Amino acid sequence: MVAHVDKSALEGSLGEWLVLPTYGSAKAGFVALLGAGERGSITADTYRRLGALSTKKARELRAKNVATAWTALPSSFLTAREAAMAFAEGAHLAAYGFHAYHKRNADRHAKAKLKTLTVYESSAVSLAAIERGFAEAAVIAEATCLARDLVNTPSQDMTPAHMVEVAKDIAASSKRLSIKTFDRERMERMKMHATLAVARGSEHEPVGVHMTYRPDVRGQMSDARGMKGKGRVKRIVVVGKAVTFDSGGLSLKLGDGMTTMKIDMAGAATVLGLFKALPELAPNVEVHGIFLAVENMPSGKAYRPGDVVRAMNGSTIEVLNTDAEGRVTLADALSYAATLKPDAIIDLATLTGACVVALGEEIAGVMGTDRKLLDRLKLSAEASGESIWELPMPAAYEDHVKSKIADVKNVGAKGQAGAISAALFLKHFVPSEIPWAHLDIAGPSYTEREIRPDQPPGASGFGVRLLMRYLQAL
Ligand code: BES
Ligand code: MN
Ligand code: ZN
Repeated sequence: MVAHVDKSALEGSLGEWLVLPTYGSAKAGFVALLGAGERGSITADTYRRLGALSTKKARELRAKNVATAWTALPSSFLTAREAAMAFAEGAHLAAYGFHAYHKRNADRHAKAKLKTLTVYESSAVSLAAIERGFAEAAVIAEATCLARDLVNTPSQDMTPAHMVEVAKDIAASSKRLSIKTFDRERMERMKMHATLAVARGSEHEPVGVHMTYRPDVRGQMSDARGMKGKGRVKRIVVVGKAVTFDSGGLSLKLGDGMTTMKIDMAGAATVLGLFKALPELAPNVEVHGIFLAVENMPSGKAYRPGDVVRAMNGSTIEVLNTDAEGRVTLADALSYAATLKPDAIIDLATLTGACVVALGEEIAGVMGTDRKLLDRLKLSAEASGESIWELPMPAAYEDHVKSKIADVKNVGAKGQAGAISAALFLKHFVPSEIPWAHLDIAGPSYTEREIRPDQPPGASGFGVRLLMRYLQAL
């Protein structure tokens, strides 16, 4: 068979296919050869793309079952487990589709679905490693797809109340998880006046969520005795922006600016995805997930440009643009996060259009106060295939967010460094002794077109993989 294939028909560049029909000479209807690219340039991301491309090709060929000779894949660049994990992650994530609102959703799309992905491998040792990698990838991919579903769901249904229901369901699924929720009255008593101001224009009541994951104590004990004993279990807080719809408020968005604003709770969706996966992957770290869910709408009750509001930590905010609402809600969320006295706070927010201008839709911005934390996040980003790029937080730009009549104002200098001034604003709500990093995910949270084979158009679930890596490596 192979003897008949013209060598020039396949050069082997990444993503290049040669599909050979077997015309009944084998059980399989097709044998497909897939290029993996230059030997020297193969990384985990190559495997991720190969997995994703396999899913897509199978769908195109209407194949229900795919078998891969694992030994045919480039080896010795990664551990078998890493390679398998990346491959399966790509395969899962490429299969995602959001069909909840289609007329005939379930049946039509289930028909096109891949049923099995089988891997042939001759060594029992690597087979076990491959299986472990596959299992882990399935958990992470499911969590990522949950985050995608939440973000893709229209704001009419993804209300603050609904986000709380999702959080409660996740919390109820494991004894390692617990949850506290705060209604409007409770938020008032907690002095979250900034968030309450943003929420006031909407018919939907704001709700706060605080989820906790506690690792297995037995695991900790054996860890402390064993070779991996690294001392005390760390406490990390992950905060997500949760604006279920961002109309801009009285500083109403114009034209196309509003059409995709159901995505403005993507930070919180990532937190929820993470908590779905945490009990299953069981990293030895205490994790807190926090979000304050609100809708930003104009009305007779809405907060106004010029208003001054006081956040939970006592600092006052001059609101000059009600469309810079994310940072106003995060002021309370970060203040609350700090009361937990964590080892680090990481927030994720679809915070600024300026970050999309700076880094585009494939790269998130990262800023923060702690070199070690930022470096760990960069390593996790590289390993997970979710790209981040650090922007500076120069002290010289502090005056961009200085207000004449309050402690800080919610807009920066006109037309300048918008992603940075947003981060400098947030910094006022995190005590300097707590390492903190801020991920501006406005770009990569949602893409109109497919930018990679493992990311169909729509919500990406950005951050679930990156943060899970970070937590697992602590
Ligand atoms: N949610 C938006 C930011 C955004 C823009 C996310 C595009 C995803 C895609 C945020 O609340 C916002 O409106 N930011 C303003 C801030 C400005 C008024 C200082 C912006 O970026 O224009
Ligand atoms: Mn806004
Ligand atoms: Zn917003």
